[in-house]
Amino acid sequence: MTRRSVIVGTGSALPERVVTNAELAAQVDTSDEWIVERTGIRSRHIAGEGETTATLATAAARAALQAAGLEGGAIDLIVLATTTPDQTFPATATIVQQAIGANGGTAFDVAAVCSGFVYALGVADAMLRAGMASRALVIGAETMSRLLDWDDRATCVLFGDGAGAVVLEARDEAESGGRGVLATRLHADGAHNELLHTDGGASTTGTIGKLRMAGREVFRHAVVNLATVFGEVLVAAGLTVEALDWVVPHQANARILDATARKLGIDPARVVVTVDRHANTSAASVPLALDAAVRDGRIQPGHLLVLEAMGGGFTWGACLVRF
Ligand code: UT7
Repeated sequence: MTRRSVIVGTGSALPERVVTNAELAAQVDTSDEWIVERTGIRSRHIAGEGETTATLATAAARAALQAAGLEGGAIDLIVLATTTPDQTFPATATIVQQAIGANGGTAFDVAAVCSGFVYALGVADAMLRAGMASRALVIGAETMSRLLDWDDRATCVLFGDGAGAVVLEARDEAESGGRGVLATRLHADGAHNELLHTDGGASTTGTIGKLRMAGREVFRHAVVNLATVFGEVLVAAGLTVEALDWVVPHQANARILDATARKLGIDPARVVVTVDRHANTSAASVPLALDAAVRDGRIQPGHLLVLEAMGGGFTWGACLVRF
């Protein structure tokens, strides 16, 4: 049989503590006006004591399992995208596996920074279609706050913590009702390491380092790369932008969302936006936005979605999904 990977449940989790722009303005030389005008961000969730990438990922996974009406034991593949693992090893996916009782299946992490969830979805979809697993949890989870230089106003105001997850199930294409992951395109260009990276790592400094970003340059590349990969998944499926119900983009900056939508001729009302209250949660941002729009009823079964993201590496990619 030809297999299709269908999303049968979504979930998300956010740390309890909400930090407003005004609170950050009391710590570094910034203002609510600057942050809102340049990024669209008004607040973000920041992990507190006891909240980690794995605890947030586990909560998101449980919510997705509940939405799918499944127990952890039904899962035989966990692909978890993160830049901020609980430990350098083992993979955070194995911590989630133990927590939800999915022991014995496949579990590993994917490192593609802000594009991580799109990469993870592409990998899980390929494994399901190849018959290597039958039901996957695909998770994007981050505690970016622990990677930030809290004295650097150019980066510390931009990020937040959280997790999102989907349950992906292999179905016979003939019985999928047209639903499933229809096309994925993933890219990387290692020439741009210096523009967005950490200044440390296990094998170099022996520390995790801090996030460093040349924001203006990243912005320029983001709009071009996102528009290009967006077109690629539509062409791969023989569809045009008019067929889309929703765009679920990586939430880095409201201005990037606007500029990309304008470039592609997409109605801004069809773009799911959560950057105002989540900020940039790296690999968690796409599944957090997806779950928000599923739970508030905007995204309905049968809707056509593009999920897209761009991040450090550079990496970028998109998935076309019939929900
Ligand atoms: O998730 C991975 C992908 N990441 C992205 O896509 C991020 C892409 N980049 C961006 O979103 C934007 O470039 C930023 C939001 C990071 C910055 O916005 P910008 O409009 O490109 O500002 P800028 O970096 O050109 O800085 C403009 C000014 C500078 O001052 P001068 O040199 O003009 O005097 C900065 O020093 O704003 C200053 N500035 C700030 N001022 C108040 C930088 N950060 C702040 C701040 N508060 N937090």
